[in-house]
Amino acid sequence: MPRAAPALVAAEMFTRAQPVIPLGDGLVLRAWLRRDAPEVFAAAQDPAIRRWHTLGADTEDEAEDRVDAWARAWSSGTDANWAIADSHTGRIAGRAALRSIHPVHGLAEVAYWVVPAVRGRGIAPRAVQALIGWAFDIAGFHRLDLRHSVYNTQSCRVATKCDFALEGVNRSAWLHDDGWHDMHMHARINDGGPAATTAPIVRARPRHRAGD
Ligand SMILES: CC(C)(COP(=O)(O)OP(=O)(O)OC[C@H]1O[C@@H](n2cnc3c(N)ncnc32)[C@H](O)[C@@H]1OP(=O)(O)O)[C@@H](O)C(=O)NCCC(=O)NCCS
Repeated sequence: MPRAAPALVAAEMFTRAQPVIPLGDGLVLRAWLRRDAPEVFAAAQDPAIRRWHTLGADTEDEAEDRVDAWARAWSSGTDANWAIADSHTGRIAGRAALRSIHPVHGLAEVAYWVVPAVRGRGIAPRAVQALIGWAFDIAGFHRLDLRHSVYNTQSCRVATKCDFALEGVNRSAWLHDDGWHDMHMHARINDGGPAATTAPIVRARPRHRAGD
């Protein structure tokens, strides 16, 4: 019988300590800590973060459970969650993650949010670029997907700034509070070449709920 090909992302990767990845200007990607829970709870109350379904935590206890789960996920090798944090104060600026990791084929999906007070400073693109560097140059991933609602223009900007090529639209692919949204499918391939360039298709946003 032919031997199975070795996994592109070695399981040993996730037996080591989760790396701290510098972003510059005192920001780092680091593992989540229990003490981050109050800031995660505050972030979860932000209308934009709630709207795009990136984080659900209705109580401080839920936020604590969520932070614990993010921290534990590293050693399972299924998801890799980093806090975007100020290395001096420890304050949380956001989250960057690789979800649904498929180590054999070296696949994963990028996810992120940034707290409202520090949006518009390019923090999400820096965090995602740092994730790409770790995922491609150190961990051995082959392809990273990035999906967002077609109405989420800010997220589309992050994808474009990080050279994720737009591959198409998945129709009615994610249920949001106001119904099913079509989703942009972007991806970056670890082929050593320049990222394909495509013009992002961004549609007009639907009417918002109060508070959005
Ligand atoms: C999407 C998100 C992560 C972008 O993070 P960021 O660190 O602000 O990223 P950038 O600084 O590159 O800004 C991206 C775009 O947001 C918009 N923006 C600029 N200032 C902003 C502000 N103060 N508040 C909100 N959006 C702003 C601009 O369109 C900007 O694009 P531009 O630089 O071409 O003008 C952040 O807006 C967020 O957390 N949103 C809610 C959660 C979310 O949508 N997550 C992604 C789900 S797929």
